[in-house]
Amino acid sequence: MHPAIRRYEKNDETAVLQLAEICSWDSTPTEADIQGFHSSEPDFFLVAELNQKIIGFVYGRESKNVPNEVLRKWKATRVGSVEVLAVEEKYRRRGIGTQLLKSLFQAFTERGIDTVTLSTPAEEIAAKRLYDKLGFETRGYFLKKKL
Ligand SMILES: CC(C)(COP(=O)(O)OP(=O)(O)OC[C@H]1O[C@@H](n2cnc3c(N)ncnc32)[C@H](O)[C@@H]1OP(=O)(O)O)[C@@H](O)C(=O)NCCC(=O)NCCS
Repeated sequence: MHPAIRRYEKNDETAVLQLAEICSWDSTPTEADIQGFHSSEPDFFLVAELNQKIIGFVYGRESKNVPNEVLRKWKATRVGSVEVLAVEEKYRRRGIGTQLLKSLFQAFTERGIDTVTLSTPAEEIAAKRLYDKLGFETRGYFLKKKL
């Protein structure tokens, strides 16, 4: 099974909105968010399409305000982030998440981005394993407590 990875197009909106529901922390990307992804970073908004069906997507963006000191410490020139990633449940564990990320990283590289960051919900074990497998280093933990 080899889905095509291509840039998001306006016709993909309904399918991507449905997929977006499975990949959120506490807030789900809305229609306006999806349109914003497309208008702000069209090169970094990619879908996986199989037999004319959208079965996954990824959205990334360039992090524009990284301080120079951080860039120096990270030995980075430009930094990008993975903002949202989702693959439809029945198509998982077939390499599609990996394919989407690798295509995004290729697009990042073409734009001079050489370092990638992301946050992922602790309960999303699959996502953490995927990022570990792709060589991401865990730099911290995000904590929350009700007062
Ligand atoms: C995370 C997600 C995108 C992975 O997509 P996928 O297409 O299944 O990923 P891949 O098939 O490319 O997986 C690559 C590797 O990641 C690891 N992995 C993926 N899913 C896993 C799982 N359920 N359990 C353990 N390891 C897993 C494995 O090492 C896997 O390689 P392998 O199958 O050869 O063992 C998908 O599970 C998903 O949509 N989850 C819900 C949304 C989400 O968590 N998004 C990211 C955070 S916002």
